[in-house]
Amino acid sequence: MINALAFDVYGTLIDTQAVLGKLTKLFGEPAPAISRLWRQKQLEYSFRRGLMRDYRDFSVCTRDALVYACREHGHTLDQTTIEQLMLAYSELDAFPDVQASLQQLSGSGFALYAFSNGSQDAVDRLLQQAGIADAFTAVVSVEAVRSFKPAPEVYAHLSKVCEEPAERICLVSGNPFDVLGAAHAGMKTAWLRRDPSVQFDPWGIEPDVTLESLNGLASHLREFSL
Ligand code: 2OP
Repeated sequence: MINALAFDVYGTLIDTQAVLGKLTKLFGEPAPAISRLWRQKQLEYSFRRGLMRDYRDFSVCTRDALVYACREHGHTLDQTTIEQLMLAYSELDAFPDVQASLQQLSGSGFALYAFSNGSQDAVDRLLQQAGIADAFTAVVSVEAVRSFKPAPEVYAHLSKVCEEPAERICLVSGNPFDVLGAAHAGMKTAWLRRDPSVQFDPWGIEPDVTLESLNGLASHLREFSL
């Protein structure tokens, strides 16, 4: 029986591609490729830093990845432009299905948590400006254990903050690496496959639930008696 739902933030609740408009104004046609590479390198840098035991605030991974992605496409950014894009990244919108789904889920008796690589302050601010902060019992940041997803210690920290054993927690994430990390930690998992072209990793471990939007998550959890 699931008592707590832990939601990944970037790419699950918050649309990281919502910054595309600003990138298009700056770079034109290469903007979508820059945006995808920015996200890809942001995550890669967090994986590297986790393995290196060289933790820095996730915003450092985000900023370094932005510079890399732009350079890869022949653009060297000045500090003003970097700050403008980082500010835009701190003010991203929630996906359209999030607000109503969170209200329905908290009304179904689940304790809701936001769970992110982002620092405590950054995620608090992000969820406040997206208008969804009030839905959560707490924001759980990996900052407290100075590592990144999918390191086991971040899921152990989540379990401690939720005051629930792993098997009573369902991790909801659009990121397969996060789903696999949570499954490895003994949690139930719901993969939010917003883009049907995205494949899950062939590791022989499948999500307990796969859904295309947050709508109806409560009924999915009941259906699978999670
Ligand atoms: C998170 O919010 C990076 O999407 C990942 O933790």
